[in-house]
Amino acid sequence: MANEDKFKKVISHAKEYGYVFQSSEIYDGLSAVYDYAQNGAELKKNIRDYWWKAMVQMHDNIVGIDAAIFMHPTTWKASGHVDAFNDPLIDNKDSKKRYRADVLVEEHREKILQKINKDIAKAQKRFGDAFNEEEFRATNGNVLRRQKQIDDITTELTRVQEENDLAGFKQLILDLEIVCPVSGSKNWTDVKQFNLMFGTKLGASAESAMDLYLRPETAQGIFVNFLNVQKTGRMKIPFGIAQTGKAFRNEIVARQFIFRMREFEQMEMQFFIKPGTQKEWFDYWKETRLKWHKSLGLGEDNYRFHDHEKLAHYADAATDIEFNFPFGFKELEGIHSRTDFDLKQHEEYSGKKLQYFDHEENASYTPYVLETSIGLDRMFLAVFSNSLEEEELEDGKTRTVLKLPAVLAPAKAAIFPLVKKDGLPEVAKEIVDDLKWDFNVIYEEKDTVGKRYRRQDAAGTPFCITVDHDTLEDNTVTIRHRDTMDQKRVKIEDLKAIIKAEVDVKHWLMKM
Ligand code: GAP
Repeated sequence: MANEDKFKKVISHAKEYGYVFQSSEIYDGLSAVYDYAQNGAELKKNIRDYWWKAMVQMHDNIVGIDAAIFMHPTTWKASGHVDAFNDPLIDNKDSKKRYRADVLVEEHREKILQKINKDIAKAQKRFGDAFNEEEFRATNGNVLRRQKQIDDITTELTRVQEENDLAGFKQLILDLEIVCPVSGSKNWTDVKQFNLMFGTKLGASAESAMDLYLRPETAQGIFVNFLNVQKTGRMKIPFGIAQTGKAFRNEIVARQFIFRMREFEQMEMQFFIKPGTQKEWFDYWKETRLKWHKSLGLGEDNYRFHDHEKLAHYADAATDIEFNFPFGFKELEGIHSRTDFDLKQHEEYSGKKLQYFDHEENASYTPYVLETSIGLDRMFLAVFSNSLEEEELEDGKTRTVLKLPAVLAPAKAAIFPLVKKDGLPEVAKEIVDDLKWDFNVIYEEKDTVGKRYRRQDAAGTPFCITVDHDTLEDNTVTIRHRDTMDQKRVKIEDLKAIIKAEVDVKHWLMKM
């Protein structure tokens, strides 16, 4: 399936099987805002739990908090978001469409990269085993010319961003002859900076109302609580504070389904360390987070690191873990070495000391911070899109199967009576009542068993359990595996252990 078709299928499947709906759909929806439906809410919760288990409960020195979305407005002045949380935007005068200037340039650069990859793939096909990619890259005229274009674009893009040279930004777009994808014209406005925070008000009367922002990241709720947690938890450096929760950004270009939303959820962890050790911890968290991703078995080749050329105002090193989404490799998680920027800023703006007394050093200092920050919705999209397959069967038919990692699947098993009579539904419901203490399980009796299998395959349920007339005689049932479609006769009393072996979080996290 072509990538674009695959992505369309992902979106329609998410709706059809109760995972994601457009928000306020009956009013024609709200752009880049989505609701998680009955299965989506479970999948999202399971991803969040998988992260929380790995990051908080499996680390003696990391604790979790749940800070409020509303924060004192000075927080955002101190953090730099009021002044610097901007995206450069540009409008096309003919189509009246608005774009992020940096994204236009990056997409143009990506197209050149795709051409290089095509040349390499062609040459590889032609020369077979004798092909030497390194040599080809170093000698092929087309590749060298295109690589130089990419390098030049990168240099200029970094410059205009770092120097906030908005006129230079526009000139870069003109020089690259980038056209509006809708109108096809190069009739661009100037580039302007646009702050991404949503404003709101706190208070009953217009005169006394206080201007607030909806938080654009969860991290600041951790920074302002740093000393409270350190003291009450008697935490010793190095230690981490984690939280999951909603964040809001007025994205200029919000598209690609739940990849870029205006209301989304983050899972963030700030790791407080001794100044000078940030390089070591940066490498540690890069490796640890990649292992966490790989433990889910979505494919080793679907991840890559992308080190930032342009660092955010608070960072001295930063990398993204990119995932191979249906629309290409894109950022899934950020790992940032944030120095002591945030704590120092909050000290300055609040007038309160936010220092740590190190007993071993017998000295106080402002800790440095290593941050891991992943979007829960993006992780959802990575898992969901990667799991959706159209599988050719031996009989020439195809089946749609959502091969979600079993630990994340919304329902772990569906229990069916073969027919809706002869006491089979009662036995099936007894099994449901017993298993539901341990797992999210569902009961299904509509349609033929074959159709029920197909529906559960497409919904991502790892096991189907069928109660038939033999069950009444020998207390055995048929258990069918979603991925292999293998069926086995097993004792009802063994079901719990069979399901647990596959869905247990320990089984999955031990792969890290
Ligand atoms: N505290 C650091 C921070 O917020 P970020 O790179 O801006 O860093 C971290 O965001 C992660 O949050 C991203 O890697 C991405 O997964 C997710 N994210 C950011 N903006 C998003 C959006 N508009 N919609 C969905 N997820 C988003």
